[in-house]
Amino acid sequence: MQNERIIVTGSAGFIGSHLARSLVTRGAAILGVDNLDPFYDPAIKRANQAATRDAAEASTGSYDFAETDIAEPGAFTAAAAQFRPTGVIHLAAKAGVRPSIEDPAGYTRANVVATSEVLNAAHQLGCSRVVMASSSSVYGNSSTVPFSENDTCVEPISPYAATKRACELLAHTHHHLTQQPVSCLRFFTVFGPRQRPDLAIAKFMRIIDTGETLKMFGDGSTSRDYTFIDDILTGITAAYERTPDFGFRIWNLGSDRPTRLDDMINAIAEVVGKPANIEQTGMQPGDVDRTWADLSRARDELGYAPSTPFAEGLQAQWDAAKRTATGV
Ligand SMILES: NC(=O)c1ccc[n+]([C@@H]2O[C@H](COP(=O)([O-])OP(=O)(O)OC[C@H]3O[C@@H](n4cnc5c(N)ncnc54)[C@H](O)[C@@H]3O)[C@@H](O)[C@H]2O)c1
Repeated sequence: MQNERIIVTGSAGFIGSHLARSLVTRGAAILGVDNLDPFYDPAIKRANQAATRDAAEASTGSYDFAETDIAEPGAFTAAAAQFRPTGVIHLAAKAGVRPSIEDPAGYTRANVVATSEVLNAAHQLGCSRVVMASSSSVYGNSSTVPFSENDTCVEPISPYAATKRACELLAHTHHHLTQQPVSCLRFFTVFGPRQRPDLAIAKFMRIIDTGETLKMFGDGSTSRDYTFIDDILTGITAAYERTPDFGFRIWNLGSDRPTRLDDMINAIAEVVGKPANIEQTGMQPGDVDRTWADLSRARDELGYAPSTPFAEGLQAQWDAAKRTATGV
């Protein structure tokens, strides 16, 4: 990564801040681009940024930041031009399934329009490659598990999922027309230190710790393929390195280890050291029943081998949350 100059969009977010930090530590020059969207507290994003800056100061890499709304026409190009990027890792998005049902147009702007801006700019700037975040949600309620990249993915069940699939289709078209190498990474529920506060694990840790009632949607039998952030980072880095060899490629990045919702709640209660006060309620619209990544392609082509046990990842996330709460 020593000679790489990479733009990371969404660099103030959960995955983006971990990635930027990891890349500067490996000697890359990073330009982070993010609009500090108020979907969750921008103070968390500023703290994420501070962690990246600290890492950059202690490394041979560098970190610059542009606060920019990349869905604005020309804004990404303007932010990127001076930096002369060799590649782009595009993680910025409005994430979250349920809020997308209230704001499909906002999600389309932040995800689809912004991706179009990033792809066009990356081509004009002569980048060697673009790696983009997609999502397991594109599989919808597919009955064939584990989910394979060969699935046609034409039945998403939330606006968020539909925008992510639309971004993949735009990426394919972009590669076809420009030959610029592009890959799309379907992340399966990512967790770990600094996880997005709206996601279930972070939320349940807070609720169980304070003794509030935990609303469990459904009977607990839904499942997710939870993937620890460090495993996702190795997958993104491998994808960045291999994308030029493939032209256009989609890779699942999951853990191949689905966990039921009720088991997940029990595991969190164990780590927090308090009982969960559960109230069962109906399933939420837009939520899929299960996710489970087929990793054959990522294993073969990227050497991707997620290794963090679920309980170990939960412990790391809980330890980090306690450190943040106590300021230690
Ligand atoms: N966390 C997961 O479990 C998960 C799972 C599947 C896919 N993803 C995808 O991975 C990526 C990163 O997710 P995350 O969990 O880190 O989310 P996040 O919300 O923490 O980070 C996304 C960042 O994008 C920024 N952003 C949003 N709209 C923008 C705009 N118009 N211009 C500039 N910046 C903008 C936000 O301010 C935020 O900091 C997203 O593309 C998301 O859809 C995440």
